[in-house]
Amino acid sequence: MGDGQELRLVDPEGLCRLKWEYEQYRTGYDDMIGMGTADMDYMSPEPILQAIMDIARRGHLGYPMIPDEYYDAIHDWLLRQAGWDINAMDSICRNSGIYISAWSAIDVLTKPGDKIVIFTPVHFCFKRMIDMNHRVTIECPLIQIDGRYTINPDALEACLSSGARLIWICNPHNPVGRAWTPKELQAIADLAERYDVQILSDDVYSGLTFPGVKYTPIASLSKEISYRTVTLCSTSKTFNTTALLHSYIVAENPETMKLYKESMDSLDLRYSTDIMGIYALIAAYRHCDGWLANVRRQLQKNYQTIADYCQEHIPMISVAKADSTYFAWIDMRKLGINPQQLRYELEREEHIIPENGLRSGKGGSGFIRLNTATSEENIINAMRRLEHFCRNHG
Ligand SMILES: Cc1ncc(COP(=O)(O)O)c(C=O)c1O
Repeated sequence: MGDGQELRLVDPEGLCRLKWEYEQYRTGYDDMIGMGTADMDYMSPEPILQAIMDIARRGHLGYPMIPDEYYDAIHDWLLRQAGWDINAMDSICRNSGIYISAWSAIDVLTKPGDKIVIFTPVHFCFKRMIDMNHRVTIECPLIQIDGRYTINPDALEACLSSGARLIWICNPHNPVGRAWTPKELQAIADLAERYDVQILSDDVYSGLTFPGVKYTPIASLSKEISYRTVTLCSTSKTFNTTALLHSYIVAENPETMKLYKESMDSLDLRYSTDIMGIYALIAAYRHCDGWLANVRRQLQKNYQTIADYCQEHIPMISVAKADSTYFAWIDMRKLGINPQQLRYELEREEHIIPENGLRSGKGGSGFIRLNTATSEENIINAMRRLEHFCRNHG
């Protein structure tokens, strides 16, 4: 037996997962490889499972009080992970999933009709959320230097001078797999101050940097920056707890926090606390360091397998250089396949289910995103199928 921190694949028997069982049902392919939906094929860590079982055993699934331990666990985690020392009681507010948190943050930081800058390609829900809130999306394309994506401050400045009110970043960034460095973040922060705009930072992938890569929250750069920032956090991606529908924000500006809570009230969310999410977070932040170290190592290994395989066997496609997340962002444009058809063709011919880059805004057309948080066997099989696909189309 291991120490409860080892990485284990879930036993698929009897499961109903979006990435696997649903896709099998949708496509009818029993041999398909699900690499789309953003969760992991690894079991969530044992201490989290224990915490959930302990809650269930006590039998109270009514309204809970949020224990101080919740705030302490977040405080200590942010300090340990990022050197960010916040007053947790005043600066944290729990909510349901990240999208709900983002909804209230957008409500507080902007008004209908305001322009919001996002760095594309980015998770398709950013634009969807902006549209649903009757705000206007301004796409600021990321640039690639030596295969590695970065932010172009000149392009950002052009977006801000068009009158944008909010910069919405994703750190680490889905889908390009970058944890922004203090220097990159400082460039964003400087422009935010110069143009007096607010920042929304989706840090849902913050725990999933590769070994040796540090995660820096933009709000940790200075108190001034923190005062104009709302950071969206969760255990969901890092500890594979997306189904618990729990997230929290960090907002050190008391006025922002007051307005945020009022916005939650207006959606009647303040008292609908997710008890499993609360206790899962405490277990995750207190007792799962060993498991997380294993995940980070495995994700780097899987990413490297994909990058090396493509370089060696499929040179006509290229994988963006990543330092975090479980995404391999792959440029398939040289194949000349209609981007509208790319995902469908891969699905039909090779039974690989990727995420379609087309949905990620400017710079996403002709790309696919593969979820690497799976078995080494699946990774190799997917690469062989991808090679076969490229040979047929090359
Ligand atoms: C960047 C980003 N933010 C938020 C979410 C949603 O997170 P959650 O399911 O924890 O609410 C996702 C899911 O893929 C994501 O990629």
